[in-house]
Amino acid sequence: MSLSIEVVEPDRLGETPIVAVFAFAARGEGNPTLAPGLPALRAELGLPSELDAAECAREGFHGKVGQVLKLAGSVDPRIFVIGLGKADGVDAERWRRGAAALIRSAGEAGEAALVVPPDAPGAALAEGAVLAAYRFDTYRSKPSPSALGRLLIVTDSDAVRETTQAGVVAADAVCFARDLVNTPPSDLNPTQLADQATERLTGRAGTTVEVWDADKVEAERLGGLLAVARGSVQPPRLVIARYEPADPVEIDGRVPHVVLVGKGITFDSGGLSLKTPDGMTTMKTDMSGAAIVLATISACGELDVGVKVTAIAPVTENMPGPNAVKPGDVFRARNGATIEVLNTDAEGRLVLADGLSLAAELEPDAIIDVATLTGAAVVALGRGICALFGTDQDLIDRVRQAGASAGEPMWPMPLPDEYADHIDSEVADMKNMGKAGEAGSIAAALLLARFVGDVPWAHLDIAGPARSGESSGYLTKGATAFGVRTLLGLLASYRQS
Ligand code: BES
Ligand code: MN
Ligand code: ZN
Repeated sequence: MSLSIEVVEPDRLGETPIVAVFAFAARGEGNPTLAPGLPALRAELGLPSELDAAECAREGFHGKVGQVLKLAGSVDPRIFVIGLGKADGVDAERWRRGAAALIRSAGEAGEAALVVPPDAPGAALAEGAVLAAYRFDTYRSKPSPSALGRLLIVTDSDAVRETTQAGVVAADAVCFARDLVNTPPSDLNPTQLADQATERLTGRAGTTVEVWDADKVEAERLGGLLAVARGSVQPPRLVIARYEPADPVEIDGRVPHVVLVGKGITFDSGGLSLKTPDGMTTMKTDMSGAAIVLATISACGELDVGVKVTAIAPVTENMPGPNAVKPGDVFRARNGATIEVLNTDAEGRLVLADGLSLAAELEPDAIIDVATLTGAAVVALGRGICALFGTDQDLIDRVRQAGASAGEPMWPMPLPDEYADHIDSEVADMKNMGKAGEAGSIAAALLLARFVGDVPWAHLDIAGPARSGESSGYLTKGATAFGVRTLLGLLASYRQS
């Protein structure tokens, strides 16, 4: 995390070179209006109570979400006005995009102050700002032009102060996941991923982490993980992290337990069913699910999540080495079911079969898996929306609602019994592919569903939104870590209900 955020009282504004305020777009024709709050400070800064109509017209500033007006004549400090769209129905996502717009327009000023209204959602502001400032510069000789180093959020509201801190914690978890995903695949093999996760999680309140090596994976009969790992010289790992709340919530006399499972393919070459060169260029991203569930659990203590959480990440490369699993091979997964491998590039469902079996054995209240699972999900919903599957409508609704609040949109997909035969195998209990060209994301989800027993389950196929093709708003080109903020919001929501 490169941007530091400090919440300050209005009288501690200091010598910052940029002061930003928000504005709402007019309802109909007319001038954008400044958002209220801190009138004394505004007077001191010489901020107009109304924007100058001529200036707005000249600059084409309508107060649209993310639009920035640099007030003419303001020098020390320069005043930036940031659009939030129309005042009615302004949601968290607009505050995120507003904060991101400030970060992206403040250039190399070093520091800026943002004057916020007393009812501003601090978490959204912090997320938008920190994530817009995210850069992955580890491998550059010269760092990319950075955004700001420090943002002062100016308010006298304790609520804003508290929510801002929560937003910083969530954004920091997202940055950790993005760093893992952006790291080149030969610098983040399964062993290195497990080490990084261990380092991140060790010493966090209520949190423990355990790593299974190849021998343990074999002793525990994780046949899917072993089958995929056979083609690589890198041994697989299984990471299990556990979080126990200090101050648990009880629902119907017990503390809910949520298990998160993340697909951790540190590089997906396709195996013997080799991908094309183009298809492989982004496949370091294929451990996003693992990064996301591990990042999520790493923030649970600081956010005082009230439920028990377990994160399980089966981690391996998918490579076509001499011992690789071959199309036609059959293996037995952790829960005893056999799977015929007809396409070695459909490897995610094989490692998840074991991860979900382990999850179901814990008899939790909910299982949620996160996976860059199918190209078909990208075809169906594009890069902005995640395909959401599940067996329990309440859980699905809850996840979708958390996604909407986090600005991580999800669209519900069906799990039709009628398609069960898509994964019928000639020789085994099931095969790892559906029918060519038909319902690829559903076929994958139907296979996963066979490993969760009767535990309420939701499945997030993030193949589309896991990466962004450009840097804009609070996304940076490359890893997005889409899902971390949804899961944190979901886990936090148990305290409210
Ligand atoms: N990791 C890929 C899915 C993927 C594709 C993620 C594009 C992000 C962008 C997955 O392992 C895969 O290769 N799936 C195959 C399954 C097929 C062989 C049944 C796919 O979607 O083509
Ligand atoms: Mn694959
Ligand atoms: Zn994959």
